[in-house]
Amino acid sequence: MLLNLAASRRVLFFGGKGGVGKTTVASAVALAQARAGRRVLLVSTDPAHNLGHLWQRAIGPAPVRVAADLDALEIDPEATVRAHLDEVGQALRQLMPPHLSGEVDRHLALSREAPGMHEAALLERIAELVEQAPRDYDLLVFDTAPSGHTARLMALPEMMSAWTDGLLRRQERSERFGAALRNLGSDDGVASRALGGERIDTAQDRDQRIRQVLHRRRHRFEHLRSVLADDAHTAFVIVLAAERLPVLETIELHAQLRRAGVQVGGLVVNKRAPADAGDFLADRRMQEEAHLRDLREALPDLPLQQLPLLAEDVVGAQALEAFADRLNAGE
Ligand SMILES: Nc1ncnc2c1ncn2[C@@H]1O[C@H](COP(=O)(O)OP(=O)(O)O)[C@@H](O)[C@H]1O
Ligand SMILES: [Mg+2]
Repeated sequence: MLLNLAASRRVLFFGGKGGVGKTTVASAVALAQARAGRRVLLVSTDPAHNLGHLWQRAIGPAPVRVAADLDALEIDPEATVRAHLDEVGQALRQLMPPHLSGEVDRHLALSREAPGMHEAALLERIAELVEQAPRDYDLLVFDTAPSGHTARLMALPEMMSAWTDGLLRRQERSERFGAALRNLGSDDGVASRALGGERIDTAQDRDQRIRQVLHRRRHRFEHLRSVLADDAHTAFVIVLAAERLPVLETIELHAQLRRAGVQVGGLVVNKRAPADAGDFLADRRMQEEAHLRDLREALPDLPLQQLPLLAEDVVGAQALEAFADRLNAGE
C-alpha cells in the first residue's frame, strides 16, 4: 500500500505520536522511492530532529546527499525565525516611514519570542519547499513532529492567507489615502509631513514593493493550501503502534486533519509483535489485535499497512535499506 501511494504522489507527509516510527518509515519510503529512480528530498519539520541520528550523519538546514537520488534536510526553527523576521523587517521598513525604523526593530525583537512565531516560520519554510522543490525533485517527503504540533501546522495556511489578505486590504486603503494626500500638494506641504517627511515618489515605490511582498506570501500560502488539499498530488500518512494511546491519537489527528481540509491517504501500523516468538509476544499481539479493531471501527476505509517489530533498532543506511525492502512485503 505504502509504496503504491508514494509512487503516485509528489508530496508525502508522515505524522503521528512520538516514538511510533515516523522518521524511520518516512526515511525508508524516501529511500525506496529514490531506489525506484525518483529524485527525492526528505525534510524533517520536527524541532526535535532525529533524521541525523537515524542516518548517522550531520544533517542541517541545507540539503545533504544521504543516498543516490536522495537528499535530506532538517528545518532549523531558529534560523527560519531569523530569516522570516528579516523578511518581515524589510517589508515593515518599506511600509513605515524611515523615522519609525527604531519602532520596527523593537517590534521585531519582541516578535522573536512571540507565541506561534516558530510555527509561522516553519510553515513559511514548508510553503517555500513545496513551491521550489519540484524544480529539482520528483518527490518531497516530510517527516513531521508529534501529532498536536503537526495538526496545528496543517490548519495554519488558511489562517495565514486570511491574515495576509487583511494586510493587503489595509495596504490598499493606505495606498488610496497616500494618493489622496499626494493630490493635496507639493513635497513640503501637508502630504509630505503626514508621510514622515519622505519624498512622495519614494512613498509610491514603497507602496508598490509592499504589495509585491504581500502578494507573493499570499500566493505561497494559497499554493500550499491547494497542494495540501489535493489528494492526487499529496498524501498524509499516519504512523502508529497498535497500542491504546497511539490509536486514540490517530483517530484524533485524522479528525483534526479533516477539519483542516487534509485527507489522510493511509495508516502504517508499525512495530507489530510476532505471533511465533514465545507466549509473551503472542499475548502482546493479541492485545494489539483488540486495539486494531478499535482503529478499524473508527476509520474503516483507510488503506492500512503493517510492519513488524524488529529485534534491533533501525540505524544507518544499511538498516534502512533492509527496512525499505520490508515495505514491499507488507500487506
Ligand atoms: N519496526 C521497528 N522495529 C523496531 N524498532 C523500530 C521499528 N520502527 C522504529 N523503531 C525504532 O523506534 C525508535 C523510534 O523511531 P522513530 O522513527 O525515531 O520514531 P518517531 O520519529 O515517530 O519519533 C527508534 O529507535 C527506531 O529505531
Ligand atoms: Mg521523528
